[in-house]
Amino acid sequence: MLILGVESSCDETGLALYDTNDGLLAHALHSQVEMHAEYGGVVPELASRDHIRRVLPLTELVLKDANKTLQDIDAIAYTQGPGLSGALLVGTSFAESLAFSLQIPTINVHHLEGHLLAPLLEANPPAFPFVALLVSGGHSQLMRVDGIGEYELLGDTLDDAAGEAFDKTAKLLGLGYPGGPALAKLAAFGKPHFKLPRPLLNSGDLNFSFSGLKTAVLTLANQHQPLDETTKADIAWEFQEAVTEVLTTKCMSALRETRLDNLIVSGGVGANTKLREKLNAATKRKLCKVSYPRLEFCTDNGAMIAFAGAMRLETMRLKAAQGLGNKNYGFSVKPRWDLAELQKP
Ligand code: KG4
Ligand code: ZN
Repeated sequence: MLILGVESSCDETGLALYDTNDGLLAHALHSQVEMHAEYGGVVPELASRDHIRRVLPLTELVLKDANKTLQDIDAIAYTQGPGLSGALLVGTSFAESLAFSLQIPTINVHHLEGHLLAPLLEANPPAFPFVALLVSGGHSQLMRVDGIGEYELLGDTLDDAAGEAFDKTAKLLGLGYPGGPALAKLAAFGKPHFKLPRPLLNSGDLNFSFSGLKTAVLTLANQHQPLDETTKADIAWEFQEAVTEVLTTKCMSALRETRLDNLIVSGGVGANTKLREKLNAATKRKLCKVSYPRLEFCTDNGAMIAFAGAMRLETMRLKAAQGLGNKNYGFSVKPRWDLAELQKP
């Protein structure tokens, strides 16, 4: 079956074609980073308008790259939430109306399920069950994953998400948007010079808290005004060290507590090199395996949505085929949506 994936939950329009026999055939992405950069963050209305401009040309592009036509598509998977409502509405209405015109089923995908399953797009994917660390701009969660739609929340952030902490700290240091990659780049020039707290490191549970770290950075920055480049790099180094140490320690605790030996990491912060170094070393010491998506699939993309849709469709293939005649093409978006609410297909 050939699945078209549509992602438009935030500031990236992603389209992809996934074939359940042949794997990922094509994917294309337009990032709005440059457009939002001058505002220092995502402007929702601008995001929605840009998704409208990009979604059709990107669909044509993936079809051309895969040497397919619209008529070859068997189902359309799209991000229904969580995300910005206007942005979600663009992808959702596009997917539903195209499916209506082609008389094919749609699969409404949870954005975080897309991230969560992205490592399975790579060669030699881990088998269920595994522990997943989901670290994006809006989430920092540890989950036990037993199968598609079988997600048990093990730990969550009590305040800021890891990516959010990277973004806010980058802003404090006067770096550009998005902050995560900019801060990681600067940290590479830093040295161990300052000491920041490791929030909830020994809390005995699997929860995170990153907002205090950001405040500690603010205090440190105020003490060293005006900030020169070396000081900024040293602060960035220590901040990255603190976040990645906490994330790594909690991942290892989650593996120990669940008695599982497979970890997958996904979401934008999963692209962080320091985090990968620490997780590689820690899992190796404990004879566990860790898997990541390729770098471009850590952040938002259409491939993970097409894939998550394909996984769901495979499981409910019969049901989907049977229900096709009665399909209701009405739609809604879910700007707020808890991953743990998802059911098995
Ligand atoms: O998963 P994602 O693309 O979007 C959400 O669904 O939220 O994640 C974006 C987040 C941003 O906060 C960004 O700063 C962070 O991931 N990020 C990074 C890196 N690349 C992206 N954080 C740290 N290091 C990176 N290399
Ligand atoms: Zn995302």
